[in-house]
Amino acid sequence: MPRPPDPTARAAELRALLRYHDHRYHVLDAPEVSDARYDALKRELIDLEAAHPQLVTPDSPTQRVGAAPATQFAPVTHRQPMFSLDNAMSEDELDAWVARVERALGRPATGFACEPKIDGLAVSLTYEQGRLVLGATRGDGAVGEDITANLRTVGAIPLALLGDDLPEVMEVRGEVYMPLAAFEELNRAQAEAGERLFVNPRNAAAGAVRQKDPAITAARRLSIWVYQIGFQQGGPSFMSHGESLAWLREAGFPVNPWSRHGDDPAAVLAHVAHAEAARHDLGYQTDGVVVKVDSLAEQRELGFTARSPRWAIAYKYPPEEETTRLLAIEVNVGRTGAVTPYAVLEPVFVGGATITNATLHNQDEVARKDLRVGDTVVIRRAGEVIPEVVGPVPSRRTGAEQVWRMPENCPFCGSPIARKPGEAVARCTGGFACPSRLREYLAHFAGRGGMDIEGLGYKTIDMLLRAGLIADPADLFSLTKEHLISRERWAEVSVGNLLAAIDAARDRPLARLLTALGIPLVGSTVARLLARRFPRLDALLAAAEEDLSAIEGIGPEIARSVRAWAEDPDNRRLVAKLESAGVRLSDHPEEGVDRAVLAGVTLVITGTLAGFSREQAQAAVEDRGGKVAGSVSKKTTAVVLGESPGSKAEKARELGVALLDEAAFIRLLAEGPGFLPGTGSGGP
Ligand code: IVH
Repeated sequence: MPRPPDPTARAAELRALLRYHDHRYHVLDAPEVSDARYDALKRELIDLEAAHPQLVTPDSPTQRVGAAPATQFAPVTHRQPMFSLDNAMSEDELDAWVARVERALGRPATGFACEPKIDGLAVSLTYEQGRLVLGATRGDGAVGEDITANLRTVGAIPLALLGDDLPEVMEVRGEVYMPLAAFEELNRAQAEAGERLFVNPRNAAAGAVRQKDPAITAARRLSIWVYQIGFQQGGPSFMSHGESLAWLREAGFPVNPWSRHGDDPAAVLAHVAHAEAARHDLGYQTDGVVVKVDSLAEQRELGFTARSPRWAIAYKYPPEEETTRLLAIEVNVGRTGAVTPYAVLEPVFVGGATITNATLHNQDEVARKDLRVGDTVVIRRAGEVIPEVVGPVPSRRTGAEQVWRMPENCPFCGSPIARKPGEAVARCTGGFACPSRLREYLAHFAGRGGMDIEGLGYKTIDMLLRAGLIADPADLFSLTKEHLISRERWAEVSVGNLLAAIDAARDRPLARLLTALGIPLVGSTVARLLARRFPRLDALLAAAEEDLSAIEGIGPEIARSVRAWAEDPDNRRLVAKLESAGVRLSDHPEEGVDRAVLAGVTLVITGTLAGFSREQAQAAVEDRGGKVAGSVSKKTTAVVLGESPGSKAEKARELGVALLDEAAFIRLLAEGPGFLPGTGSGGP
């Protein structure tokens, strides 16, 4: 593909594309391109900007993370104070507020705006000429903290606004929050690492925005709903709150789709009931509905008290906590053998569901909370968050409560449970002989992110296990029609489908197999990085820790984890068995390859490469549309230097041809020559 001649124009185009896709993804929740395509666009812009630093603009999508860690946050005085809201704890209190509004106006308000009260933290975003220039916390309402660098990492916050009639200055307010899925994942990781758990998504979000290092904020996957214009100079004028929200949405901000207009108090109450019923399906926490007088003229008439606007009120949902009895503490064994304690509870209705169990995460959490079997405990179910045992009610103790200890043997297979020093997690040592571990492992192995074997869910797995047909994941590949039909009397067609699905899984890309293998810390993203560098599993499993951590995006912790997995004899046996079952353990050369990325590139390779034979290296270049030549000339794009290179390196230096080490060669294969000096830029 010929590269566009003008880097300035291409950079602008890429920025526009990325902004467009950010908006589709974060605001409209309707992405149009794959993650890979998005990453490729971003990569191209990063490289273009690296080659032409003068092209970098502060609102470029590449500039979300980039600021150095802060030592402290500078104070920011808000142009308009950030007030808090009065609460209404019941319908009566809501009615009383409506009556107060009517009294103050001397007539009923013309209408109300209702929107979810997001349980996150308030931030202020200032845009000048449509560019984000400042992001701040609420602080004490008058003075907050400058957390611009961190807020820039929140993908849902536009760095540049859409539209023509943009105000010279606009300060927009909203609630930054952590989606429940991100929160649960974060706590799972914290538990596995033996770190303290976050109490709720709001605390986790608050911690994330006040990180000194924006890269940590970026990793915490925050989002935002914007709910108010705080200050405005120039640009459109609005009659109502609803109008301003509609404009904010057009300008590219995420505005909560549950925002509704209510003509009168009855409509407001109907909406409150509606929102309350739906609150557990939203994917983030809400703790009520904010009701605002919709007309901005009426808002001005009503004004503020010392701490809050008279024109708005927060109707709070009742708390979702109950007490019940902790009947027992039992354990699960997961796919890595991790033994996880959970609470068996006297059934209790909380947060819209009857709760009978709750995870206790790990042994240390049980001790930290001082939970004893027989305790009266507080259960909280906040939104869709998995129910949580907050803690015991010590005043209700009778003395008969039992301190819990981790069992010495696995309840599923009887093998000893062991906890390595320094690890938070105790593990069953039974390997695949443990039926619980095997079941979970198989479900993960066959799951969507792994080998994606359609029809192999828990139900089928349980049938296979009960029939004694599989003792490890590799056994899946030796199942036959006879096995299944005779044992389970399945309909022939579903047996056929299952066997076909299993057969198809023999040929998955290496990254999928790696994910399926369940190497601790190796999810699909890491798996892709690993497979890109080591397209063969044997080479990957033989790689030294240093070689692994040299891969961009792979740190020492992941490298150590991969090494440890590779050294475990059980895992080696599994890999060998998968291989003899005909499972492909390497990527086809063309897999995940852009066939044109090296078009017009001629390389000379000298010396020995660690990750490629000479033939593999040549094939990799040719698969991508490039050429490998035997000798260096002025036409050579670059010379790849392996271990003990020959005279070709000298020749390259003489002719001023670029020299690449193996890491740069791998980058070249992945990204093309855009990052090499003097190529692809059309520069002087
Ligand atoms: S409007 C003048 N709308 O609730 C205050 N606030 O308890 C106008 N909040 O500090 C605030 N969701 O952090 C408004 N849809 C929403 C909200 C919301 C959450 C927070 C906000 C505010 C706090 C007050």
